[in-house]
Amino acid sequence: MASVSVANVRKNYGHFEVLHGVDIDIRDGEFVILVGPSGCGKSTLLRMIAGLEEISGGNVSIGSKVVNNVAPKERDIAMVFQSYALYPHMTVEANMGFSLRLAKAPKDQIKTRVHDAAQTLGLQHLLDRYPRNLSGGQRQRVAMGRAIVRQPQVFLFDEPLSNLDAKLRVQMRSEIKQLHQRLKTTTIYVTHDQIEAMTMADRIVVMRDGYVEQIGSPLDLYDRPANLFVAGFIGSPGMNVIKGRISATGPLEFIANGGARLPLPENAAPARGAEVIYGIRPEHLIVSQDGVSAEVVVVEPTGAETQINARLGSDALVATVRERLSLQAGDAVQVAPDLSKLHLFDARTEKRLPID
Ligand SMILES: Nc1ncnc2c1ncn2[C@@H]1O[C@H](COP(=O)(O)OP(=O)(O)O)[C@@H](O)[C@H]1O
Ligand SMILES: [Mg+2]
Repeated sequence: MASVSVANVRKNYGHFEVLHGVDIDIRDGEFVILVGPSGCGKSTLLRMIAGLEEISGGNVSIGSKVVNNVAPKERDIAMVFQSYALYPHMTVEANMGFSLRLAKAPKDQIKTRVHDAAQTLGLQHLLDRYPRNLSGGQRQRVAMGRAIVRQPQVFLFDEPLSNLDAKLRVQMRSEIKQLHQRLKTTTIYVTHDQIEAMTMADRIVVMRDGYVEQIGSPLDLYDRPANLFVAGFIGSPGMNVIKGRISATGPLEFIANGGARLPLPENAAPARGAEVIYGIRPEHLIVSQDGVSAEVVVVEPTGAETQINARLGSDALVATVRERLSLQAGDAVQVAPDLSKLHLFDARTEKRLPID
């Protein structure tokens, strides 16, 4: 196993720069997920760590060694792609042992490692099959098995679950996490799915347009997003964000551009009159008599909880509640924000403002 360091890494294709100086330090044994919208540069960065893409600036190190000019097969990493890339004419056993045969490992060692990996992944009974006779989930497991048998220093995954149906994705998520808990191999995993990132990662790196927006544990990002982008990207349904300003005179409150007035904690730091964005997660809106009045637009019960889509002045608002309320479109509902969970963002920089 090894640590991985990405220091001021840049990538340009001709004059077009797609990574603008990225810094990430990954500890030995850590499970780090790169997440961000499509096109933000996740795959490019992963491929640079793998050695499949030239580095335009900065350094990639594995362990204490800078590997910028080290060939992919010398980096002691194993990569799993979205398109499993199995050899169709080889059995599962041959697919899994391929890299070891290529490295001229002794036959009995190949057999032991392939059988160990097959057992770990529940593939023992499929070793003689060909990829065409496997389900999507089984193919995905074989692709992982091929990476495991190499016992690499680092695993790299690029959206490995994107081709699976929703149910299988949830199951494989948990299997990959358990696999990491067992093997403790340093893992870098790319996805555009924030739920995948939240449920699997030790730490998440949120990327946008070739920049790192924030690095932190899943709950760090959820509770203390550095800016409006991270606040909106992490969490589903997303955080409610309402544009407006702090009252300039009179009682301290937030005045939405759409006309609504919302409470602020007494210790709210921004100056009177400052333009801010009011951010409150759906589960931090409480239905309560002394709340502000909003108009119900749609009610979506899921069983465990109910999502209320409402309108507050001209702003849309989502509240998730666990109690069962008899509400219908057009009804008035009183909602009160839990002020200890409120976020305020600077309207210009979109950075989160301290409240205290
Ligand atoms: N070979 C290439 N030549 C030119 N531009 C590329 C190439 N590969 C990727 N890009 C561009 O780099 C950006 C990042 O791509 P990518 O790393 O694939 O994003 P992600 O994996 O986050 O969806 C995109 O704008 C993409 O169009
Ligand atoms: Mg990609």
